[in-house]
Parts: sequence; C-alpha cells; structure tokens
Amino acid sequence: MLHVSRHQLREVALHVVTSGSGPALLLVHGFPLDHGMWRGQFEELADSYRLIAPDLRGFGRSQPGSEPAATMDRMADDLAELLDALRVTEPVTLCGLSMGGYVALAFWRRHGERLGRLILCDTRAAADTPETAAGRLATAAAILDRGTDELAESMLERLFAERTWRESPALVESIRQVMRRTPARSVAAALRGMAQRVDMTEALPRIHVPALVICGEYDAISPPEEMRGLAAALPRAEYVQIAGAGHMAPLEEPAAVNRAIRRFLAETEVDAPS
Ligand code: MLT
Repeated sequence: MLHVSRHQLREVALHVVTSGSGPALLLVHGFPLDHGMWRGQFEELADSYRLIAPDLRGFGRSQPGSEPAATMDRMADDLAELLDALRVTEPVTLCGLSMGGYVALAFWRRHGERLGRLILCDTRAAADTPETAAGRLATAAAILDRGTDELAESMLERLFAERTWRESPALVESIRQVMRRTPARSVAAALRGMAQRVDMTEALPRIHVPALVICGEYDAISPPEEMRGLAAALPRAEYVQIAGAGHMAPLEEPAAVNRAIRRFLAETEVDAPS
C-alpha cells in the first residue's frame, strides 16, 4: 500500500511516497521529474524493502527553496532531514537516477554515516564542463522567459531508447506531462544547482560502501562507457547494463532493473559502524 505524506523541513516542505517494510531504500528522481518515475520499483520491491521516494525541492508536490539555485548539497541535506522526519535511523540504501545520482554523491560527502549502500543509475561523477554549465544558465534564463515546454521536448528526445518510444508511448507522454507541470522557477533553480555541483571523480575511490551502477544500453546522456568507468573507480561496485533501455532505465525496463537491485541487496550488507 502506498503512503503519502508531507514533511516540513527547515527550509522546505517535502512530499514523499513510501511503501513496504524492511531495510530502507531511498529513491531519488532525476531532472525535471518527480517520485512517479519509480513506479516500476514500487510495484515489485515493496514486498521486501521500505521504499521512500520523495519529490525533491521544487519538483512534484514539494515546495521550492527560496534561493535562486537548488544545489545538490541542499537537496542532500533535505534527504537527511527527511530521514529524521520518517525516523529512519539506520544507514539507508540510496538509489539516485541522473540528477538523483548527483544528489546521492553529495549525500555521501555530507551525510556519509547515513549511507549504507549506493545505487547509481544513469548518472555521472564529473562536474559540468564550463560550456555545459554556461548552457544550463542560459537555459534557466530562457525557461523563466518562455516556460518549460521547449526543454521538455528536447529532453524527451534524449531520455528514452527507441524501443520505449515505439512500444510505450503512454509512458513517454506521462513524463512529458510531469515536465510540463514542473514550475519554470524550480527547473531554473535545479539547472543552476547542477551547473555548480562539485566534481566527485577524485572522491570515487574513497566511497567504500557496496555500490551498484546501472546504465541503460542506449543512454545518450550518461553513456555506458562513462558509467563503466564510474563503476571501475568505486572500490566495491558492480556494473549492470540494462538491455534495450535509455537514460530512464528503471522506468523503461523495470523488471531488469528490479532484478539487479534485488540481487545486489541480497548479496551485500551494510557495514557495521566502526
Ligand atoms: C537528469 O536526467 O536528471 C538530467 O539529465 C541530469 C543532467 O541534466 O545532467
């Protein structure tokens, strides 16, 4: 059964959907989406795990922050406060997709003692290049002027594998609608936040928790070569490629992603506190 709640944190109120019981699995969505992208995980994994899927600040039904940039650090701090509000005291498994992966790496940096295991889906450790960061700032300005429809269309083209476009038009449409509903101000704030995120490449060898790195075979945004390199740099990571999926692997091929997550969680343990 799904449980929906809203939690007033220090700076923002976050909307969160939870389901199931067992070890906590915190699911952090990508940009510019909301908790709904994890529906395939809610359908299958809640029999063994306590799934927790928040809407990050400014997305879905969560309140935006008051600052012009929604940084990955702020979002990571929100997650730590949310876990307090939900009385989750044990280290969690944090699973983040793309921007959610940037937030997961920020969570390790700022709240490492609360991270038991890490699942990185279709994401990267590197910061933006100066050109990419400048492009994001320009897009943020354009969105505030003209709305989010253009961004939604250009992003959609890169999010999904060809098979998803062909066989699951309703799924693509549902993501289009989520993007269109997201307020321009929130989209702009997250773009500015991503543009200033810390480069985590050098930190990867110091992330000692068990990790699973998942990448869609046709991910055009964080491609398999890059994600394989990310997994190789993590001391305890396994790399799993999802056949037929694009950037939104957990949504496009939920059964394969759930199998990988289930196996990883069954075969690894959260380290005892030292
Ligand atoms: C995402 O899916 O969250 C975005 O592609 C991340 C990004 O723009 O870097």
